[in-house]
Amino acid sequence: MESDTIDRARVREINKRRTFAIISHPDAGKTTLTEKLLLFGGAITQAGAVKSRKTDRAALSDFLSIEQERGISVSSSVMKFEYKGYEINLLDTPGHQDFSEDTYRVLTAVDCAVMIIDNAKGVEPQTRKLMEVCRMRNTPIITFINKLDREGLDPLDIFEDIEDKLQIECVPLTWPIGMGKRFKGVYNFETRELGIFTPGYTPKDDDGIMIQDLSDPRLDELIASSQADQLREDVELIKGASDPFDMSLYLSGTQTPVFFGSAINNFGVKEMLDAFVKIAPPPGIRPAQSRDVNPMESDFSGFAFKIQANMDPEHRDRIAFFRICSGKFVKGMKVKHHRIGKEIRLSNATMFMAQERSHVEEAYPGDIIGIHNHGTIKIGDTFTTKEPLTFLGIPSFAPEHFRRVLLKDPLKTKSLNKGLTQLAEEGTIQVFRPLMGNMHVIGAVGVLQFDVTMARLKAEYNVNAGYESIDLSVARWVTCEDEKMLKLFRQKNESSLALDAEGCLTFMTTSEYQLGFVMEEWPDIQFHKTREHN
Ligand code: G4P
Repeated sequence: MESDTIDRARVREINKRRTFAIISHPDAGKTTLTEKLLLFGGAITQAGAVKSRKTDRAALSDFLSIEQERGISVSSSVMKFEYKGYEINLLDTPGHQDFSEDTYRVLTAVDCAVMIIDNAKGVEPQTRKLMEVCRMRNTPIITFINKLDREGLDPLDIFEDIEDKLQIECVPLTWPIGMGKRFKGVYNFETRELGIFTPGYTPKDDDGIMIQDLSDPRLDELIASSQADQLREDVELIKGASDPFDMSLYLSGTQTPVFFGSAINNFGVKEMLDAFVKIAPPPGIRPAQSRDVNPMESDFSGFAFKIQANMDPEHRDRIAFFRICSGKFVKGMKVKHHRIGKEIRLSNATMFMAQERSHVEEAYPGDIIGIHNHGTIKIGDTFTTKEPLTFLGIPSFAPEHFRRVLLKDPLKTKSLNKGLTQLAEEGTIQVFRPLMGNMHVIGAVGVLQFDVTMARLKAEYNVNAGYESIDLSVARWVTCEDEKMLKLFRQKNESSLALDAEGCLTFMTTSEYQLGFVMEEWPDIQFHKTREHN
């Protein structure tokens, strides 16, 4: 009887969780929207509390100083807030495109995402890349079209752009009335309410003006007649042209509900958040190598998706961010760290609030906890109370930039190896050892990672190293079901092959053209752009 009550309490807690990230191209308004969401959630009390990451886009020195700051207050990586009885975890994704690998992995820990589109720009490159990752897991997407207070593209043109570039069908749940100087507000299709735009005003629950019918003459009083007519026309057109919102299509990532607003003016954000808590899915089933893991299972399980070095010299540890997938976390519990075959006690896990961190007493599936460690945790590691599990869908992405590492002090070879191995495990950089020769090739999705790696080798491993360019621009992990064929491929292409930090065979070459050539020559060999951590 008692366990039944406890279980029901756990199920209730799990169903209250909503874990998501915001995906956008830099400057679309992610920082601004985050701040407004935290204001609604009462996690911050004043605007300006969320630091813009603009400097992320500047120089390495800025990045390092930001990392240093973050080392002390990493709280901004995960922000937890409550809204209307829901426990919401908002995972931050680094803004700089050079750190997009980290961003990609954050997306493996969420159950849905909010995509922000700048209404003047439409779909931008970074959004496209992030959507590719969401697609890998069919992550449900809610779209927020931002900056309606400025002139922008016609909403229908934005829809066409999204549908064309991102292959996801748009279903508007609100509709804008004008834009720029003529922006009057949004009409909510579901509630049939009109939200009137007042710059900078924070809306409350009962602010919407009910318009039972668009022919209601009050509409012409509230907004200019010409705009009221335009709205009537638009709504007719939309009703005829777009499919209705379909929960199952949205949950499978093929349809996206769309909201319009202006984050900086806190307009349209509440409509989106109200819909978000209703339609964003609670923690779901996670596929692992051996079976699917249900969040309601009583045994604890979770995986590390991000590791953050603590750059504060006083605290040389790292924080591994764990997504809880099943069971319940209780402070001090013992779990199995399967990769190293040890049992460890989780006594000082941290939960992240918007502006502070606090020690976690208990946490549930969907929650993110931070665990301090000294390099014993790597990306993809799973902790459970019972069986060994390997969660799927935590990928490495083929690097796009490559450098050869130059060690300035030959006596430090061992430290260099250790440093590079650990940084690879943390996902800072990818390390390759070519089958021929004796060098380290490092690869990254963004070039700034090379400088960060060198700075960290110096600061944390006392290794003075540099790098030089190398004539490589494409890498693919290779596999083949036919072992003999793979062996032959290896023999014939030895000079273009390397092993990555986990010993996986990687083909590296100078151009996509060359790659295409080799792929044609070896049709039985599979060339992979992403690889699962194991
Ligand atoms: P990001 O995190 O996605 O990079 O974007 P961020 O929120 O920093 O916003 C980028 C710029 O867009 C900022 O202006 C911000 O004020 C502006 N912005 C955000 N939402 C809206 C909106 O609804 N309407 C308009 N007109 N602007 C918006 P900035 O001038 O680059 O920076 P700041 O000096 O204002 O901080």
